[in-house]
Amino acid sequence: MALADFLKQLDEVAVQAAQVFGSAADAEAVEAGRVEFMGAKQGRLKAAQKGMGVLDKAERPAAGKRFNEVKEQIDAAFQAAVERLAAKPPAVRKMTPQFDPTVPGTPLRIGRLHPITQTIEELKDIMGRLGFSVADGPEIEDERHNFEALNIPREHPARDPLDNFYLAAAGHASGVETALLRSQTSTVQIRVMEKTPPPIRIICLGRVYRPDTADATHYPMFHQMEGLLIDTHVTMADLKSVLRLFATSYLGRDVHIRFRPSFFPFTEPSVEVDFHWDGQWIEFGGAGMVDPNVLNAVGYDPEQVIGFAFGLGIERLCMRRHGITDIREFYKNDVRFLHQF
Ligand code: DAH
Repeated sequence: MALADFLKQLDEVAVQAAQVFGSAADAEAVEAGRVEFMGAKQGRLKAAQKGMGVLDKAERPAAGKRFNEVKEQIDAAFQAAVERLAAKPPAVRKMTPQFDPTVPGTPLRIGRLHPITQTIEELKDIMGRLGFSVADGPEIEDERHNFEALNIPREHPARDPLDNFYLAAAGHASGVETALLRSQTSTVQIRVMEKTPPPIRIICLGRVYRPDTADATHYPMFHQMEGLLIDTHVTMADLKSVLRLFATSYLGRDVHIRFRPSFFPFTEPSVEVDFHWDGQWIEFGGAGMVDPNVLNAVGYDPEQVIGFAFGLGIERLCMRRHGITDIREFYKNDVRFLHQF
């Protein structure tokens, strides 16, 4: 073989190697190029090197010089390809299946407020229109606010440990007054009057706790709406008007209201409140004129101010309105039930 042919072949190898390494898109392509051009046994550089053996002795130095140049070029092209691919982030895989904007969407299941929460919001709204603002109190109470100041003395059966959730351990251990989960929202009457001078016109809507066995009409936790109005010249006619307005606003114009004589330690006189609706009388709670002992307990002067109070069961109102027959449904967290409201 003549020197010219040899050099021509060598140039072709150099050009092709530059192309292969320059366009290699991934590590596999670079490796394939390395084997093709630089492979120790079958590589094309190796083949060219063998071809030098058949050249005339005098031509060999020139051939060798050119061979070394080409070998260096190919080495450099290989290195460049390796570095280029190392710097490049891996190709992003196409997402399958692809997003199809013409397919109808999956509707989101949107949550809603619990029926009791909805009822509370509505009751606040109705009583707000009658001028009552919302007050709040703790669910863990002391005996003064749950009993004492409400004119419920120590021997009273309402304080029986079997009828209340006393937090005995906490109270006894620290020597402080016994705490309990409040059994009625009447506690908030005391808390508000202790802090605020008359006149008062508040409602409190919240949870109360009693160790009742759960059945269709009882649950160990339920909600009450407490109302308290203190002013001068307040009568039972005012109490009845407020409750009638409330009942017609919540249940409808055809509701009648009835007071039955009763007893509560914190009101005198006391009544039970019934609503006539859907053909029957249903008891919704208690009410009465605030007992002078309660006014004294919070530092009010019973000669100067007078007022009424009431406490209604919120679950019962909501059940009446929606025809719910089992109070336990509220607290099962069954979305098939909850989704109806
Ligand atoms: N606290 C009473 C109960 O839970 C209900 C009640 C009765 C509240 C008469 C009052 C009231 O404010 O005046 O049974």
